[in-house]
Amino acid sequence: MKEEQPIDNIINQQSITNSTQHSALSTFNFKKTIIRLENIFKVYGIGETEVRALSDVNLTIEEGDYCSIMGPSGSGKSTAMNIIGCLDRPSSGHYYLDSLDVAQMEDSELAHIRNKKLGFVFQQFHLLQQLSALENVMLPMVYAGIPNSERKDRATEALIKVGLEKRLLNKPNQLSGGQQQRVAIARAIVNRPVLLLADEPTGALDSRTTQEVLDIFTELNDSGITVVMVTHEPEVARQTRRIVWFRDGQVVHSNLTPADLSQVAAMQ
Ligand SMILES: Nc1ncnc2c1ncn2[C@@H]1O[C@H](COP(=O)(O)OP(=O)(O)OP(=O)(O)O)[C@@H](O)[C@H]1O
Ligand SMILES: [Mg+2]
Repeated sequence: MKEEQPIDNIINQQSITNSTQHSALSTFNFKKTIIRLENIFKVYGIGETEVRALSDVNLTIEEGDYCSIMGPSGSGKSTAMNIIGCLDRPSSGHYYLDSLDVAQMEDSELAHIRNKKLGFVFQQFHLLQQLSALENVMLPMVYAGIPNSERKDRATEALIKVGLEKRLLNKPNQLSGGQQQRVAIARAIVNRPVLLLADEPTGALDSRTTQEVLDIFTELNDSGITVVMVTHEPEVARQTRRIVWFRDGQVVHSNLTPADLSQVAAMQ
């Protein structure tokens, strides 16, 4: 988005103090690390068409974090999320997910890990149109081998958690955008992931439904799920606890606070 550049510049000058404080405090931090990216590079194409989408990215995210990833278009946010979500592999570097080195794993192993440890929410919901809300949420449990008898109860429980107990049998085209995104969130959490990943989950929603979805993320995070979300919207990022800022394929700030963003807004 075009207004991001000035924000980016101002934050650049402000956050040095913040990251220094963080490294001093982290000595006393005993939380479990969920994501550790070490010297991650991602290169697309070869020769003249080569694009370095990620260039020496190092990032640690701990259990219970609620983190948003921001930065200009093309800065590598989705590429990083795809690697974090085991949907793609880095060209080089190590990625430890819940202590497992997943960077060089085979496709079948990655698929297993995705199913067991991760939940995904996307901007366009990606629900199956011919299935009801309940059936959409039951689907990941089929792949995870959860017994048939448990699937319906667990899917219902997840849909209750996102406030859709009265819409279990509706198909996606009988639901509003915000409700569809809530079904997608229920589907993402039904296998009890350690990590919930969302790439612009409110990008297709109006401000009221954006807030509904963010309230659910906050509740899930309060209940212990680690949440990492890409967003272009400062008002969305401000509701998370930590902001990671990408530029030109690199992490330029790994631990901005919502207050840093508020200060930036006040100066504009
Ligand atoms: N499959 C691909 N093949 C070639 N280049 C790619 C591919 N995917 C991404 N890129 C390039 O890598 C860079 C980073 O892209 P990425 O999608 O990660 O950016 P982003 O920060 O998510 O941007 P946006 O905010 O627009 O979604 C861009 O220059 C992009 O053109
Ligand atoms: Mg993107």
